Amino acid sequence: MSLTDTHGRIATDLRVSLTDRCNLRCTYCMPAEGLAWLPGERMLTDDEVVRLVGVAVGRLGVTEVRLTGGEPMLRPGLVELVARLAALRPRPELSVTTNGLILARLAGPLRAAGLDRINVSLDTLDADRFVRITRRERLGDVLAGLSAAAASGFTPVKVNSVLVRGVNDDEAPRLLRWCLREGYELRFIEQMPLDAQHAWRRDTMVTAGEILACLRAEFTLTPLPGRGSAPAELFEVNGGPGRVGVIASVSAPFCAACDRVRLTADGQVRDCLFARRESDLRTPMRAGADDERLAALWRAAVRGKKAGHGIDEPTFRQPDRPMSAIGG
Ligand code: GTP
Ligand code: 5AD
Ligand code: SF4
Repeated sequence: MSLTDTHGRIATDLRVSLTDRCNLRCTYCMPAEGLAWLPGERMLTDDEVVRLVGVAVGRLGVTEVRLTGGEPMLRPGLVELVARLAALRPRPELSVTTNGLILARLAGPLRAAGLDRINVSLDTLDADRFVRITRRERLGDVLAGLSAAAASGFTPVKVNSVLVRGVNDDEAPRLLRWCLREGYELRFIEQMPLDAQHAWRRDTMVTAGEILACLRAEFTLTPLPGRGSAPAELFEVNGGPGRVGVIASVSAPFCAACDRVRLTADGQVRDCLFARRESDLRTPMRAGADDERLAALWRAAVRGKKAGHGIDEPTFRQPDRPMSAIGG
């Protein structure tokens, strides 16, 4: 039986956060000093991750599994974990969302282990701006990681960019020119109120509309149909084959088509990025619950999913967990 909610949506896309730690400190995500990371004993072990993903694909109809963080490549033994997930039956499609810092070393081994797709976050091509946004001098590592991903056979490699007012909000055309040349699929993400500092402000957010207007000054963009449940609205660039996407979570929510469910690094099911409620699977699992019991708890966790994230409602409150501890 699948993971259905009372609004008729079916969750088939599981996003698993493997760690809340990160080796960058993006200003729109966390403070310079980092956060109080999850203690080791609360983190799911590899065996527990494999078991829960096995329940999801074997009993709950999940077909896609995306590994996220924090930064998932900081998880020791990631390559072996991917190999174990690729051995599950039915085999899920496996992808990773990474900041790319150590991707140059891991792209080949991850591909060999069975990883299907990679999305890499990159907000700027300018080294100084990279430091202003991420507080680390690592642009070269990300670029090397992207090259390694393409060379290892990942296709398409997707690039996620967040534009920050006053820092890189003029860079959309340059990023697109570069991604078209390199063969990466670029998507711009609207900033969401999920930062640990609670500093997000709607009036300073760079909107999808603004980004598209800026791109249209230089490129011809033709909307591509058939978006389905994907967060990105896609456009063909200059008649193709290049494409660009915008993920307008705030200005044009796509909650009605959402097919996602999330598992945090400490074993909590979240039915939405913005959920204020979590359902604990780690405690019952460690207390001896069998797979059918875990599947039942998981189904119950998803059933009451709200119709939408409600950012525009007066009662909206940002979740306690920041993006880095939920997985993007
Ligand atoms: P593919 O399209 O399968 O490649 O993956 P994706 O776009 O879902 O994955 P990725 O991790 O690259 O997600 C990009 C961004 O989309 C995330 O960082 C989020 O900002 C946003 N996003 C993903 N899932 C959701 C969601 O359920 N709700 C909202 N509002 N935004 C989401
Ligand atoms: N709003 C939108 N995107 C964010 N990301 C991190 N924090 C936020 C936020 N508050 C992005 C990262 C990365 C992806 C996982 O999510 O830049 O591309
Ligand atoms: Fe790390 Fe991603 Fe947060 Fe940047 S946005 S600090 S890469 S978790």
